[in-house]
Amino acid sequence: MKIKSVMIAASVAVATAAAALAHGGATGIVKQRMDGMMAMGKALTAVGDMFKGKTTFDPQQVSNSADIVRQHAAEMGKLFPDTKASRKGKGTEALPAIWQKMDEFLALADDLDARAVDLKAVSQIGDKRKIRIEFAKLSKTCASCHTDFRKPKK
Ligand code: HEC
Repeated sequence: MKIKSVMIAASVAVATAAAALAHGGATGIVKQRMDGMMAMGKALTAVGDMFKGKTTFDPQQVSNSADIVRQHAAEMGKLFPDTKASRKGKGTEALPAIWQKMDEFLALADDLDARAVDLKAVSQIGDKRKIRIEFAKLSKTCASCHTDFRKPKK
């Protein structure tokens, strides 16, 4: 029993370290919001893979992904406080524009929620064509916030 649990603990530690590195060593509030963003990224990949034909089309999974996005869209206001740790924390890719134009930033978070509500509605009808359209709109909202409020990728 001992050896096995030690091995599991070790592999969990490695996985956690890898995740921390992927976030540029972020901790605290920065890591928290990055984790939320990553969860949304995973949720969208799950839907994107269906349209790429990598996985079977599953409206229930689309609905679950929409729920995950809604959950994180609702947290957005709390996860970008105007504090030093939030603005300048290690590894952050957040731009100062967030705090200069907080209204715009939060409007995009609201928009994200609205797009997820629409995606969920069409997923419950199960119409693949409409799901594709709403999914594209949702993805566009992610991208437009990143364009304005996240450091460009090097
Ligand atoms: C209201 C603005 C906004 C919206 C909407 C938004 N993001 Fe982000 N996202 C950000 C900001 C700002 C960062 C950088 C955060 C940081 O580094 O502190 C970020 C970072 C990320 C990251 C990188 C996380 C990491 O570990 O470095 C991913 C992945 C991501 N977002 C995915 C998404 C997806 C998917 C959506 C749509 C479902 C989305 N985001 C919607 C603002 C937004």
